Amino acid sequence: MSKVTVVGAGKYGSTTVQRLAEWDVVDEVVMTDIVEGLPQGLALDMNQSRPVTGHRTLVVGTNDYADSAGSDVVIITAGLPRKPGMSRMDLLEVNAKIVKSVTEDIVRYSPDAVIIVVTNPLDQMTTLAAEVSGFPRNRVFGQAGILDSSRFAHFISEKTGADIQSIEAVTLGSHGETMVPVPSLCRVDDKPLAEVLDPGTIDDLVDRTRKGGAEIVGLLKTGSAYYAPSAAAAYMAKAVVENSAEKLPVCAWMTGEYGIDDVYLGVIAEIGSGGVQRVVELELTDEEATGLAEAAVAVKEKVEDLAQIDL
Ligand code: APR
Repeated sequence: MSKVTVVGAGKYGSTTVQRLAEWDVVDEVVMTDIVEGLPQGLALDMNQSRPVTGHRTLVVGTNDYADSAGSDVVIITAGLPRKPGMSRMDLLEVNAKIVKSVTEDIVRYSPDAVIIVVTNPLDQMTTLAAEVSGFPRNRVFGQAGILDSSRFAHFISEKTGADIQSIEAVTLGSHGETMVPVPSLCRVDDKPLAEVLDPGTIDDLVDRTRKGGAEIVGLLKTGSAYYAPSAAAAYMAKAVVENSAEKLPVCAWMTGEYGIDDVYLGVIAEIGSGGVQRVVELELTDEEATGLAEAAVAVKEKVEDLAQIDL
């Protein structure tokens, strides 16, 4: 019997719930929010789609954390999304308060859960959820790398015309300015990216990937991206529930890998029922390794901002 709870029934949360339900990979998906009626209404709507889509997973919409009790995985999407011109840092204070209270409720009802954080600013919110929960750090991790890698893959596909499924793209580091795309490990139709695109074009795609979220925020005017983000978060929950041992780019706690420790950073990690089973160290070019070390320093500095907030 597997159970996943998604906290926040907004765009990101509800789309994540819908994907998990339609994939039919868990027995029960619980969706909760502070807005009364919202998760219940969305759950009813989703459940009524099952005869058409052919899936069976039931979605429970609720405002009561008691319904989330005993979850194997809890995904935290609760919080405000970025508005145009707003940086992830602007979100820090308001979302920190939300993530703190949500985490306390999760721990009360699902003391053995794996927590996946998606609320921005991602690095700080993942750190905060880990601290507040008191869970071992491997049981709390964040979503960013799958999304950034899949954005990068999309841009490579658009530029080369190659089949999207033939592209392997890798990004590490932090979600945002200090994201570290790793062109040396990207492949198109099994060829190194550098054999397919010239360095200037790769740099342009890297830049667009780094600003991928802001590009969508600018177009939408209200709210931020959620289709690709929800695919990433749902996929991570699936890997935990299925104990798949897949190697995925996630925001994981570092314990000396790449010479970096005591910080949540975007790396490739093996994901299973315990959350992050191990961080996988890749062979990076000197430039990429430097970028990762710089991202770690930047995240550590940002995390210090949390101490300034009166939670
Ligand atoms: N508990 C539960 N739900 C909450 C809480 C709380 N304490 N506070 C806010 N919420 C809910 C809101 O009621 C809303 O339904 O979180 C939901 C957020 O939904 P949206 O505004 O649609 O935002 P969304 O696009 O889903 O983004 C959520 O993900 O990508 C990040 O930056 C984004 O931090 C943002 C988060």
